Amino acid sequence: MNRRQFLSSSIAATLGLSACGGSSSSSNGGGGNTSFKRPFFIPEELTGNLQNGRMQYNLTLKTGLSRFLDNNINTATWGINGKFLGPTLRLKNGDSVDIHYQNTLPEATTIHGHGMHVPANMDGGVHQIIPAGQTWTSSYTVNQHASTNWYHPHLMGKTAEHVMHGLAGLIIIDDSNTETLDLPKQYGVDDIPVIVQDRRFNADGSFDYNPSRREIMHGWKGDTYLVNGVIKPYLELEAKQIRFRILNGSNARIYNFAFASGRSFKQIATDNALLETPVELTQLRLSPAERAEIVVDFSDAKGKNDIFIDSASNAELFKVNIKNQDASNITQLPNSLITLAQLNPADAVNTRSFTLSGRRGQLVINGQSMNKTVINESIPINNIEIWEITNAMGMDHNFHIHATHFQLLERNGSANAVAANERGYKDTVYIPPRESVKVILKMTDYADTTKPYMYHCHILEHEDAGMMG
Ligand code: C2O
Ligand code: CU
Ligand code: CU
Repeated sequence: MNRRQFLSSSIAATLGLSACGGSSSSSNGGGGNTSFKRPFFIPEELTGNLQNGRMQYNLTLKTGLSRFLDNNINTATWGINGKFLGPTLRLKNGDSVDIHYQNTLPEATTIHGHGMHVPANMDGGVHQIIPAGQTWTSSYTVNQHASTNWYHPHLMGKTAEHVMHGLAGLIIIDDSNTETLDLPKQYGVDDIPVIVQDRRFNADGSFDYNPSRREIMHGWKGDTYLVNGVIKPYLELEAKQIRFRILNGSNARIYNFAFASGRSFKQIATDNALLETPVELTQLRLSPAERAEIVVDFSDAKGKNDIFIDSASNAELFKVNIKNQDASNITQLPNSLITLAQLNPADAVNTRSFTLSGRRGQLVINGQSMNKTVINESIPINNIEIWEITNAMGMDHNFHIHATHFQLLERNGSANAVAANERGYKDTVYIPPRESVKVILKMTDYADTTKPYMYHCHILEHEDAGMMG
């Protein structure tokens, strides 16, 4: 609390957090300052084309030149249907989809649908390689709750580098529940995608990504923040409830998202579904690959502004300018969002333990480094299982499971230590140094004895270093 107050007052003092009165934007002076001068970028929304009863999505992975910096310098990047990042795929629960990934890059990659409940051979994990020049199609019927998921490369040993180049995008799933709830849902207007990443630049504009041994161990962190591929953008919003779908798309950085003013907000969704009821927060911690949907009420902020920050690193991410006029299409956040089926620990038939540790300079799970040809765990379909995951190291890790969501039962042996905003469906959980979590899950559908799914630490340098099974 002290820290945030210090932070908000210092940022407020530096940036003049007050009514801007509708005059033309104030300048901080100084030619090199790009803060809040670029518009917020909303990735294109791809809703698919219906063909023979199946929705078709066409994605082309390609190289490009992006302009992040303010000195007319280009950065070589990779993107999907564009120069950097990719479009937001909009799927509807129950739809049958074919997502075609055409790889025009100079090398092989894979594209995984993170958070998607799909057959193992459609998962886009380390086994579904897309060679350079080829197209791979992920076909499935959407079979899960409305949620904000994402797609990214998953090539063994190369995931960090391929994500760093720019391959990532959101997958938004809608269902009949989210279509009827009174939530902000105009994409790019009051329903805003927010992909947060960190990068480092060389003097020639290229991405500086040469992780040292130490950076691989501790997770590589950049010194410049991108929001949907833009450094410190500004966003114009109406004075009403606004929904943000936030993805920590960084390789290793753990964020503590907040507003500089200390403004509170309500988290309405975790990784894989809405929360049963909104949870009020002033700080939101997300480790790599975790998502959260939040609703922020700006109805009291006509003509004012605020700054979305990472309070863990004191970084400013983007500025919101609230229009000095009456808002249209106002929504009123309901108190009850969904009823989530809960798995009961008493019904668990098996407990598995996973220990994340270091062994002879390697990062391992249960003493083993990822081997593509080994199936480490076989999970009978419809088994209710408890997984105890321990971070045995003095550094950050998290844990992601493909194929299904889980529910967090305990942190460090305590059910009370599970925060209210973690009591929903999740596929990735942060595990601080020397801590442990206990989750419960059930693998439903898509049994496959030969094509495995993955579980791993989602700090990309760790995953690439073998902390995966
Ligand atoms: Cu985000 Cu194994 O993936
Ligand atoms: Cu995944
Ligand atoms: Cu890790």
